Amino acid sequence: MQIPMPLQEAVLRALEGYSPAVLAAAGQALSRRYRQEDPGDMRLAGAEEAAAYAVFRMPATYGAVRGALAYALEALPELSTAATLLDAGAGPGTVMWALAEVLPALERCILLEREPRMASLGQKLAQAAPRAAVQTAHWQAADLSAPWEAPVCDIVTAAYVLGELEDEAMLTLALRLWEHTGHALLLVEPGTPRAHGRMLRLRQALLEAGAYLAAPCPHSGACPLPEGDWCHAVQRIDRTGLHRLLKDGALGYEDEKFTYLVFSRTPPCPAAARVLRRPVQRKGVVQARLCTAQGIREVTVSRRDRERYREARDWTQGSRA
Ligand SMILES: C[S@@+](CC[C@H](N)C(=O)[O-])C[C@H]1O[C@@H](n2cnc3c(N)ncnc32)[C@H](O)[C@@H]1O
Repeated sequence: MQIPMPLQEAVLRALEGYSPAVLAAAGQALSRRYRQEDPGDMRLAGAEEAAAYAVFRMPATYGAVRGALAYALEALPELSTAATLLDAGAGPGTVMWALAEVLPALERCILLEREPRMASLGQKLAQAAPRAAVQTAHWQAADLSAPWEAPVCDIVTAAYVLGELEDEAMLTLALRLWEHTGHALLLVEPGTPRAHGRMLRLRQALLEAGAYLAAPCPHSGACPLPEGDWCHAVQRIDRTGLHRLLKDGALGYEDEKFTYLVFSRTPPCPAAARVLRRPVQRKGVVQARLCTAQGIREVTVSRRDRERYREARDWTQGSRA
């Protein structure tokens, strides 16, 4: 997967005037921060930080959001008619770009963002979008830890932002986002043990608030993973030429591990089972660890079971099984 070409070109244009050395250093500082288990204060207030985010992190978070949205649509096919989006912690507009690629009826986007430099970069990038919904997005200055106003929207999202809030603020925000959800709420975070633990708390709180859990879990009961284990999906994203240039010698792609939750107002079609680890394919068999409504199952699918084997050969970490 790649970020859309108009976005790549717009990022390139937005970088004119920045020294490559300054961007590369800002990018390294970002990577160091995102590798930490508890990133602490992650404010991206400077213009260089916002630009470095667009080069070094936006492709990966874009890929994670596209991946999570694809899983959401499997459970909620009618979400494809969503016309309105409310995105919290929009950064440079990553979620809006990702949704605009997939949701043909999207016509109105409202983006909440605290940092003026980030919002102005996002607004600049949005002008290059082929979709009117992106060009005409409403960028609203808002601190998500304080009260804010917005209309109810079909799809409400928060990607890579809940991890930056304290526990209480995170729960309050998630419930507030749910109040603004017309159809589905999509939360995406990095695929780390810390994010998984926090997602479990959100899962509980939203189920108690009456939400249906559409993905990734095949059930709404207690998470069957043992203490210390965590689940995540993986999305491979091509690195842009600029990314490779600034990150000397880097691979042509990156695998973004992400954790996500999708809640809905209407009953979803959840997966019967979800693949927890990268399946192992040997001659004539596929071995996989699955999460099911009956708990964790280690399964071996052999070629003799032709139909199931054909499906199992396409299983990936995070896919339905
Ligand atoms: C890691 S970036 C994620 C951006 C985008 N959602 C993405 O997935 O690429 C987090 C964004 O959330 C914003 N943010 C963090 N805390 C916030 C708060 N309390 N209120 C509003 N925005 C906040 C940051 O300024 C930053 O732009």
